[in-house]
Amino acid sequence: MNLPDYALTAERVPQHRPALVPVQERQRLQGQVAELLAARDAVLVAHYYVDGDVQDLAEATGGFVSDSLEMARFGRDHPAQTLIVAGVRFMGETAKILSPHKRVFMPTLEAECSLDIGCPPAAFAAFRQAHPERTAVVYANTSAKVKALSDWVVTSSIALPIIEHLAAKGEKVLWAPDKHLGRYIQSQTDADMLLWSGACVVHEEFKAKALGDLKRIYPDAGVLVHPESPAAVVGIADAVGSTSQIVEAAGTLPHELFIVATDRGLFHKLRQRHPHKRFIEAPTAGEGATCRSCAHCPWMAMNELQVLADTLADDARLAANEVLVAPETGRQAMIPLERMLAFPRP
Ligand code: 13P
Ligand code: SF4
Repeated sequence: MNLPDYALTAERVPQHRPALVPVQERQRLQGQVAELLAARDAVLVAHYYVDGDVQDLAEATGGFVSDSLEMARFGRDHPAQTLIVAGVRFMGETAKILSPHKRVFMPTLEAECSLDIGCPPAAFAAFRQAHPERTAVVYANTSAKVKALSDWVVTSSIALPIIEHLAAKGEKVLWAPDKHLGRYIQSQTDADMLLWSGACVVHEEFKAKALGDLKRIYPDAGVLVHPESPAAVVGIADAVGSTSQIVEAAGTLPHELFIVATDRGLFHKLRQRHPHKRFIEAPTAGEGATCRSCAHCPWMAMNELQVLADTLADDARLAANEVLVAPETGRQAMIPLERMLAFPRP
């Protein structure tokens, strides 16, 4: 079965430029959101790529900021019956699948993910059907329906040990949707993997040639790379890993300056955790550059403080942004998700 290229074309990527909000207004909005969360008995779970003010607010109000794996775990284990997920839709869906009895809302359901969009459930079902002998492992950046069709779900922080485990049992893997992450795992594990052809529009833009040029200007800089980036960029890295693994690596590695190939939202946490180190963005310019996202996911950027405040303040708007998953799909999708969460932490 020949797979078409499921990488999104430029016109399918929204242009989202967050509003510039003065400091005092941001503080006022943070106070308003904190009151609304308390009034609704809700806990805020945020991804590292969203607005830094939203991340700070999550932590200040008893919520959580992390990578997609730990967001899932926190949402499942926290006693609050209402979760507000600031991230992209697959993260909200994961929270709902793992806690079907809880109500899960997002600032806006328009926050999608190019990998999720690039893996339509019907096409994935056909891919799966064509290779029944393979174990289907999907990246968390997929819809509930695709997860429901799979044996395992993984995130970038736990993909390597899970695929190693499957390969050691002699299992052949059907992988979707991120071809770059799939190739990276293959290169590290030698597993037999058949890859779907999707990509993240943000990470795909990092350019190895321009990164090499930047390294020549800052020869002492360490390079931190998210594995959704192309192989040539990963090849220059001093550390490759999920968002939280990048934050950890910045502390463990001896460098004082880092070039970072991931969404620039992560710089907020990198600078908080490592105030004595410096971080610069890996280049998205260079030959063949299109810079549709310029290192900032347009869907993550939709999680603005004002949007969060407006959604929480208005019952109808909140209801319109509730994450719903069909019960049977949720039951099926919970199996591979629980499998991932039960796997020993790396
Ligand atoms: P992490 O699991 O590393 O947080 O990645 C999620 C994501 O969407 C990266 O683009
Ligand atoms: Fe999806 Fe890429 Fe945005 Fe992450 S950064 S949510 S993989 S489009």
